[in-house]
Amino acid sequence: MSNIGDNKLRTRALGREWVHFDSVDSTNEYIKQRALELENGFVVSADFQSKGRGRRGNSWSTSAGNGLAMSMLIKPYDISTLSCLPLVGALAVQRAVYGLTGLEAAIKWPNDIVLGNKKLCGILCESVQSGDRELYAAICGIGVNIGQTENEFIDAGIEHATSLYLQSEGKCPTAKEFAVSVLNELEPLVDRLIKDGFSSMIEEYARYCITLGKQVKLIYSEEKVQGTAIGIDAKGALLCNIGGKFKAINSGEVSVRGLYGYV
Ligand code: BTN
Repeated sequence: MSNIGDNKLRTRALGREWVHFDSVDSTNEYIKQRALELENGFVVSADFQSKGRGRRGNSWSTSAGNGLAMSMLIKPYDISTLSCLPLVGALAVQRAVYGLTGLEAAIKWPNDIVLGNKKLCGILCESVQSGDRELYAAICGIGVNIGQTENEFIDAGIEHATSLYLQSEGKCPTAKEFAVSVLNELEPLVDRLIKDGFSSMIEEYARYCITLGKQVKLIYSEEKVQGTAIGIDAKGALLCNIGGKFKAINSGEVSVRGLYGYV
């Protein structure tokens, strides 16, 4: 294990232990299997994942040389703030994109990063029990499209995806530069989440959240419904107006009008 971040890493714990693989099944799974023995802040990254996991049981493909797959271990972790971690991860990625390219990415609630109305990055947060008592560890896994071309996405059947290469007009960072920047942004945000709660960053999150004010389709009480997204609460839930009633949506797929083919 080594300090892959070199001198650009400004964190206290995140990425101070960092292992990189050419190929692994899933970086989230790697940490999940070893959460007890690994140190807080441990990072694993890979060029290729054979069983990359996405949200809601989807798969996530990371092909060699084109993307960043990275997972971080945060422990101990207060499980009551787990619902906010994907949103905090999204803020960190949003800031990293801006810092490295000057591009203002949007966030599709809860944690897709969107550039040019297409998906640049997905985040999968998971938790594991990290002791024999009620002690938990959180795993924050980030998959970013870095160098893919339009044709690669078309061939893979994911036309709603984009990459930093496609969006940044020559200012495309390397996967390592991007990873270091995300870690530098994420650590202070997680510290703030733990100390002051998510309400302390709702304003910043809402500024970039492309879902707000839009018509959305979602599953509520096992039914497909339409509504309007109107806000984010202190637990990271999406507040929606559904037929005149205000509901807090905690999880599940939310399609946003104007994005990823919802017209
Ligand atoms: C999504 O469905 O949008 C979330 C995708 C998350 C993918 C990342 S890649 C690194 C980490 N390891 C995994 O197996 N999944 C996450």
